[in-house]
Amino acid sequence: MTPTSGTTGASSDRRGPHADGAASRTDDAAPDDTGQHRLDLTAPTPMVPGWRPGSVIDLAGVEKVYRTGAFEVAALRGVTMTIDEGEFVAIMGPSGSGKSTLMHILGCLDSPTAGTYRLAGDDVSTMTEVELAEVRNARIGFVFQQFNLLASMDAWRNVELPLVYAGIDRAARRERSMEALARVGLSDRVDHRPGELSGGQQQRVAVARALVTDPALILADEPTGNLDSVAARGMLDLLTELHANGRTIVLITHDAEVALAAHRTIRIRDGNIQDGGGGGVSPGRDRRPAATPGGRP
Ligand SMILES: Nc1ncnc2c1ncn2[C@@H]1O[C@H](COP(=O)(O)OP(=O)(O)O)[C@@H](O)[C@H]1O
Ligand SMILES: [Mg+2]
Repeated sequence: MTPTSGTTGASSDRRGPHADGAASRTDDAAPDDTGQHRLDLTAPTPMVPGWRPGSVIDLAGVEKVYRTGAFEVAALRGVTMTIDEGEFVAIMGPSGSGKSTLMHILGCLDSPTAGTYRLAGDDVSTMTEVELAEVRNARIGFVFQQFNLLASMDAWRNVELPLVYAGIDRAARRERSMEALARVGLSDRVDHRPGELSGGQQQRVAVARALVTDPALILADEPTGNLDSVAARGMLDLLTELHANGRTIVLITHDAEVALAAHRTIRIRDGNIQDGGGGGVSPGRDRRPAATPGGRP
């Protein structure tokens, strides 16, 4: 998910043109020119056994062991949790608890060592690398603590990158990038490079890049970690607004104040879910607490 500028021209050999209009959801399920079935993670697939309709994320007994030389680190030790469509969930835990590992698995950037992960009903653990890359690019928007913007490219060029990889034509890319930047309040900064923007603005560019494919799921790993308190507040307000517009958002943080922006908090420690994983939460669309304890930070 950290593209290099050298790959910007390499779209057409990865997937055929996929120009589907500027603002529409890219939820076609037609095979592309690689013969791969394009997944529609927003469509219900009730044929999948064990899948609860409405859940975007279903993890069951997910383990992740890192092996480096003679050492083994069990970063996740049997994580079971469910996140429904339209939820705004925080995953909170101290440093080293496995949050980033979990985000990499949720984002199809890495595979579990054991257990199953269903993304909108599809068992991700059985997918090929090509399929995983498609899921990532088309269905998941990532925001990282370090922004991960390309310094040599204007804001809108950074934002259009996922569309380049998706094979969207140039005019549609530009239009959609502008729309995404407008949504994060940066219409007046589209031609600025990251170095010419504040940290908060850079993170907004990163959010615009996450939005530009109109993904079913936004995964944000410590998105306020490098921001001052004002910019952090702005970022949480932005995520809140995106959620209000129907996005499913997973916010990973070590900070309890930040987690208050979400409507549910899943706590993780030493690779285990401590609470909030979904088992004890009553089913149904409306899971929002009546009020956020203690108010907004
Ligand atoms: N690529 C890796 N190789 C080996 N160990 C890793 C790797 N990534 C993370 N770990 C270890 O896994 C544990 C969880 O790390 P991480 O998921 O980054 O936690 P968090 O994001 O909550 O700080 C830590 O003990 C960390 O040192
Ligand atoms: Mg981390």
